[in-house]
Amino acid sequence: TITDPRKRVLNTIRNIPDWPEPGVTFRDITPVLQDPVCFRSLIDIFVYRYMRTRVDLVAGVDARGFIVGSVLAYELNLGFVPVRKKGKLPFDTLIEDYELEYGMSSVEIHTDALRPGQRVLLVDDLIATGGTMLAASRLLQRLGANVVEAVAIVDLPDLGGSKALEKEGLNVFSVCQF
Ligand code: PRP
Ligand code: ADE
Repeated sequence: TITDPRKRVLNTIRNIPDWPEPGVTFRDITPVLQDPVCFRSLIDIFVYRYMRTRVDLVAGVDARGFIVGSVLAYELNLGFVPVRKKGKLPFDTLIEDYELEYGMSSVEIHTDALRPGQRVLLVDDLIATGGTMLAASRLLQRLGANVVEAVAIVDLPDLGGSKALEKEGLNVFSVCQF
């Protein structure tokens, strides 16, 4: 049986070849969430990493970043802020456009989501090109946040996203790399 929590998460992620299109291997985290021991192992990796770090707030990226980000915020006794896809947030927002593999997308944040100087953990499930995480971090920084770390379950290093984020001055942490 597996006892190392990182290995347990790595071995529980399901690989779907050629989805959503030929040539892409989709890294499906739903089995990690479904298995109570694995879900707890995953969250505990993050909790132990940040429980002695000065953090004021957790921000999670729509949609899979909400699942892990909100649980982590709760466990760290912090508030949670959603970074949403365009058109979902009802109050005044800031917006950042970014490139996907095909076309453009946009993320938004409420203008009162945080106060300048607050220390924020930015959470998503996966870093591919890094475009989503970079756009989200720009939103946080435009509001004056200090982004402590960009946090993901999975990094796909061949796509260069984590390198690009580090080049922009962000700290990056991922549980497993494929
Ligand atoms: C996926 C994933 C990340 C992003 C990573 O989200 O959850 O947010 O892609 O890709 P990138 O590093 O190249 O930006 P997706 O846009 O598929 O949306 P979803 O979470 O709503 O499924
Ligand atoms: N988002 C972007 N690329 C992905 C992949 N290969 N698996 C899961 N989510 C993704």
